[in-house]
Amino acid sequence: MWHFTCITIVTFFQIASGLNNFDVPALYQITEPLTHGECPSWDSRNNLLYFVDIQKGQIYSYNYTNKELTSIILNGSVAPVVQSKSDPNLLIVGLDRSIVAVKWDRENGNYTSKTLVTVAEDKPDSTMNDGKADRRGRIWFGTMDYDADTKNHPDKGSLYKVTKNSVSTPQPVITPVNVSNGMAWNKANNKFYYIDSPTRQIFEYDYDDVKGEISNRRVVFDLRDYNLTASPDGMTIDVDDNLWVALFGGGSVIKVNPKTGQLLNRYPIPAECVTSVMWGGPELDILFVTTSKLRLSDEEILKQPGAGCVFALTNLGTKGFPVFEADLIDSI
Ligand SMILES: *[C@@H]1O[C@H](CO)[C@@H](O)[C@H](O)[C@H]1NC(C)=O
Ligand SMILES: *[C@@H]1O[C@H](CO)[C@@H](O)[C@H](O)[C@H]1NC(C)=O
Ligand SMILES: *[C@@H]1O[C@H](CO)[C@@H](O)[C@H](O)[C@H]1NC(C)=O
Ligand SMILES: *[C@@H]1O[C@H](CO)[C@@H](O)[C@H](O)[C@H]1NC(C)=O
Ligand SMILES: *[C@@H]1O[C@H](CO)[C@@H](O)[C@H](O)[C@H]1NC(C)=O
Repeated sequence: MWHFTCITIVTFFQIASGLNNFDVPALYQITEPLTHGECPSWDSRNNLLYFVDIQKGQIYSYNYTNKELTSIILNGSVAPVVQSKSDPNLLIVGLDRSIVAVKWDRENGNYTSKTLVTVAEDKPDSTMNDGKADRRGRIWFGTMDYDADTKNHPDKGSLYKVTKNSVSTPQPVITPVNVSNGMAWNKANNKFYYIDSPTRQIFEYDYDDVKGEISNRRVVFDLRDYNLTASPDGMTIDVDDNLWVALFGGGSVIKVNPKTGQLLNRYPIPAECVTSVMWGGPELDILFVTTSKLRLSDEEILKQPGAGCVFALTNLGTKGFPVFEADLIDSI
């Protein structure tokens, strides 16, 4: 089914419950190493997985049907990539500090792009990080600040919201933040989950879908409570309202119940720096996982040949919701 190696993984849940092998999650490597893979997003209309190699400005699409990987390169740091409601080939992309619309012509291997807006003019070193559309097609995207050594500068980022009738004036929703990450909405669409990576916590807010407003922040999970030394990075949610969180520096994806604050399971990934997760596949039951080798030394990369690869985790016993599509512009 996949091109690359399959590694069967056994988690502490299966060891405890003695489930047979058919129910054991399996891990597949689906790409060669990227530098800093991020922002996986599933396009149900085309059965494609999008993801980016941030610093290279590269947007990839992986055709689930024929396993073909294609990419385009933009001039700058690229994250996130969100498909549009109006046209599956019209992507809303973060490029450095700008939101850019990219029309990708896969047949001819070219694209056209148009900058919609630039944020944080007073923070020239900041750049977009994770971002997602909500159910109404508004986009929520966050920034972070880093220098050439990719050291984070605290408190220089924000989470913004951009809507169709105010594309040129994104509103800061949470400010300041250090490294804006995560983002998921529950099934009832009345809770919003968010991560500011260095806090090492997962936050829950009440969510008003009509107004697109969040309130009443509380901590639902703290990595310190489980002695997890990593930082939480990208996050998604499953149909049971459990959170799936990439652990940067933790070589794993964790499953968390935000209602009880319990760590439900931990899935090892053969790369220390796991950056993000997203459900995909025709049944939305495959968890695609991106990883990074950006901060690793040559010696560490030799020990971790999987660093930077995109992986697929299967047989997880649950699934996700379709990715929400952006409704910002209808065409370029
Ligand atoms: C994916 O591959 C299938 C099989 O080759 C092809 O029919 C389909 O058009 C491809 N999808 C895209 C979006 O290119
Ligand atoms: C890429 O972007 C940089 C900075 O924004 C600019 O100076 C440069 O001219 C651009 N290069 C191309 C090929 O467009
Ligand atoms: C790509 O190139 C073809 C052929 O030159 C052109 O017709 C098409 O409009 C281009 N597509 C985009 C998205 O720029
Ligand atoms: C950002 O990081 C700094 C240093 O770790 C910390 O003091 C600050 O509280 C963080 N800011 C937020 C909004 O969490
Ligand atoms: C975390 O580590 C401390 C000190 O080693 C230990 O006492 C505690 O039980 C650990 N907690 C968990 C949840 O593993």
